[in-house]
Amino acid sequence: MDKIGPVLVPTKDGSSTLHSSEYNAHYHSIHGAYTESMHIFINHGLRDYLAGKKKPINTPIKIMEMGLGSGLNALLTAESINQQAVDYLGLEAHPITQKATYLSIINSLPHALDNNLIESFWDAPWNAPTKITPVFTLEKRLGKIEDLELTPLSIDIIYYDAFAPESQPHLWQKEVMNSVINWLKPGGYLLTYCAKGSFRRTCKSLGCRLESLPGPPGKREISRFVKENNES
Ligand SMILES: C[S@@+](CC[C@H](N)C(=O)[O-])C[C@H]1O[C@@H](n2cnc3c(N)ncnc32)[C@H](O)[C@@H]1O
Repeated sequence: MDKIGPVLVPTKDGSSTLHSSEYNAHYHSIHGAYTESMHIFINHGLRDYLAGKKKPINTPIKIMEMGLGSGLNALLTAESINQQAVDYLGLEAHPITQKATYLSIINSLPHALDNNLIESFWDAPWNAPTKITPVFTLEKRLGKIEDLELTPLSIDIIYYDAFAPESQPHLWQKEVMNSVINWLKPGGYLLTYCAKGSFRRTCKSLGCRLESLPGPPGKREISRFVKENNES
């Protein structure tokens, strides 16, 4: 049987998101998709991490996103890095297949993104690193997080943007998180909107320090985990 693709939904800051009937979940906060992405992943992820980074800007930092979805977080990252080199791995199990759906999300943002960036992102092949700008390399990787194999201690920042624990509980439990946290470098960040106690305890037990931060509209707290120097 054909699955119904995700449908477009407006959010409170004027930007749009998608709703998946398969997972009965939204791709972003209905209180503001753009606001949520900027708050969690760009401001408390990328920008805070770069503020404390000592390496030269031409040494790429590695970002992994769990759940590339519409590509919103990836595009906002590419737009926000100035001259910092970034290698971005965006993992997605069920890619959006309609370009019109992608464009509806991206064109709903409060400011217009560079058109070359929008097109290059969509055109980038799957499973091959592709230079999108002189400093931003993107690999759209098709697959499931459960099957992903990455080098331990190799990732600077993880955007953990899975559907909520109510929709996909196993993606927030120890077996999956053990691998995910093992990919993080010491001092690396894992960002998520999820502030659930059991998830927080799991990540702490796997060698992370929790930083509980104020959330975007509609969310009291978000979680930033910092990988401790001593391996778990
Ligand atoms: C909350 S949405 C991500 C939204 C996305 N970051 C964006 O900006 O549009 C969760 C995403 O995870 C994907 N997904 C679901 N199960 C997955 C799995 N096991 N491995 C990888 N991706 C998965 C979904 O298809 C969906 O695109």
